[in-house]
Amino acid sequence: MYVVKSPLPDDDLKTVSEALQGALVDLVDLSLVAKQIHWNVVGPRFRSVHLQLDEVVDTARLHSDTVAERASTLGVSPDGRAGTVASTSGIGKVAEGWVKDTDAVGTLVDALGAVITRMRERVNSTGDADPVSQDIFIQITADLEKHHWMFQAENG
Ligand SMILES: [Fe+2]
Repeated sequence: MYVVKSPLPDDDLKTVSEALQGALVDLVDLSLVAKQIHWNVVGPRFRSVHLQLDEVVDTARLHSDTVAERASTLGVSPDGRAGTVASTSGIGKVAEGWVKDTDAVGTLVDALGAVITRMRERVNSTGDADPVSQDIFIQITADLEKHHWMFQAENG
């Protein structure tokens, strides 16, 4: 069922919609992982890591909304359901229970690295099909890479 008419031809729309859907699940999962660690971190650096994690949550939530609404704008239904996120996210599973502060930082370095790799692939794959969506992926990548830098510096 098409409610919103897309400005893009079908081939380009397929490329862009797959990229937007992939970004949506990665960002929703990143927000969940960051909250899980925010609640479970322990250790002498608890407070700084705990607060830093909520900055990642804010970024992930903001941009998950941006990519979902870009999909809607292009006439493609975004799928942010829990089952879809769990089965298609690019982030590995987080272990249950308390997390030492150094491990918490390492978990975020890995999670952000995985999402950034996939986001850069989306930058490359969408430039011809839709530079407007590509611009969104570029902005998201810049914000994620800044967080990635700061978590790497935490364990430096
Ligand atoms: Fe909190």
